[in-house]
Formats: sequence, C-alpha cells, structure tokens
Amino acid sequence: MPSNQKLYIRKNSKIHSSGLFAKTDIEKGSRIIEYRGLKITKAQSDKIADVHIAANQKKGTIGAVYIFTLNERYDINGKVSWNLAKYINHSCDPNCETDIIRGKIWINSIKDIKKGEELTYDYGYDMHYFEDHPCRCNSKNCVGFIVRSNLRWRLKKKLAKKK
Ligand SMILES: C[S@@+](CC[C@H](N)C(=O)[O-])C[C@H]1O[C@@H](n2cnc3c(N)ncnc32)[C@H](O)[C@@H]1O
Ligand SMILES: [Zn+2]
Repeated sequence: MPSNQKLYIRKNSKIHSSGLFAKTDIEKGSRIIEYRGLKITKAQSDKIADVHIAANQKKGTIGAVYIFTLNERYDINGKVSWNLAKYINHSCDPNCETDIIRGKIWINSIKDIKKGEELTYDYGYDMHYFEDHPCRCNSKNCVGFIVRSNLRWRLKKKLAKKK
C-alpha cells in the first residue's frame, strides 16, 4: 500500500459524536496518524481545562477535551483543524496505542483492524475525577468510566463498595 494513502476516515461514532474509522484493513503494528496540535505549557493547559469545565457546567454538558500530555512540562492542544487524530475515542479494549517519539505523538495499531472498525486507544486517565469521564465504549471489560487499564480493578472495587 502506498505510504501516503490515508488509513482512516472520520464518521459518526456510537461511542461519542465523531470517531475515526479504518478506511481499509490495517495490520497490527502500523503507524496510522500523528496527533498534532499546538505545544502548550501545563499552566496554559490548566487554564483551558478550567474554561472548559466552567463552560460545560453552565450548559450542563460534558464536552470534548483535546489536550494530550506530551511530557512533564508540555501538553499538545489538539483542538486545531489539521488534527484529525483528535476524533479518536477511548476504549477499554482498544485497537491502537499512542507512542511519543522525539516530541511527536503517533497512533499505532496494536491489533489487526478490519476496514470500517472504529479506531480507539486507552486515554490513560488516572482515577481523579473519574466520575467526570463516563465511558461508553461498550467493551466487555469496561468499568463505565474512562480510567487507564492498570487502575480499572481498583475502580471496580471502589464502585462495588459504593453499592
Ligand atoms: C479527543 S475527543 C474524541 C472525539 C470526540 N468524539 C469528538 O467528536 O470530538 C475526547 C472526548 O470524546 C469523548 N469520548 C471519547 N471517548 C469516549 C468514551 N469511551 N466514552 C464516552 N465519551 C468518550 C469525551 O467527551 C472526551 O472528552
Ligand atoms: Zn469503556
């Protein structure tokens, strides 16, 4: 396959609003797309998050967030028109992963993916404010909230105690 051929297409998603889908069969281990955007400091990132939370509280909605953690000092604000990777939703049983190489964020497949399947990765969120991030990935191992895989057992325990 020519390397300049796009492997993805944006479509409506059952998980949330828009998603990115495989335009063709994709082999495990393929580099699919770069998560692009503007490099911002953690302070700028916090400001964007505060404005986002305030706006959504006012509207009573949970809107989309497009900030990706790059390293300890910087994040990438992916809310730009030239970043189609911003449409990739989270799944608790993902078919992709993110890989940061020399300051660039890549989305790579971790499974063979069939044409038409939605592309997903684990957002890797910790347990803070988990209730603000309900998960609708519909996978078998989903705990109902977007929390990274190695913390899901702990969240399961916490939720069981609450019942
Ligand atoms: C980077 S955007 C993903 C694209 C988003 N679907 C859109 O149309 O803009 C991240 C946002 O999508 C939503 N989202 C992503 N994965 C989700 C999931 N598994 N369950 C529920 N909402 C999800 C959340 O609102 C999250 O803040
Ligand atoms: Zn889930």
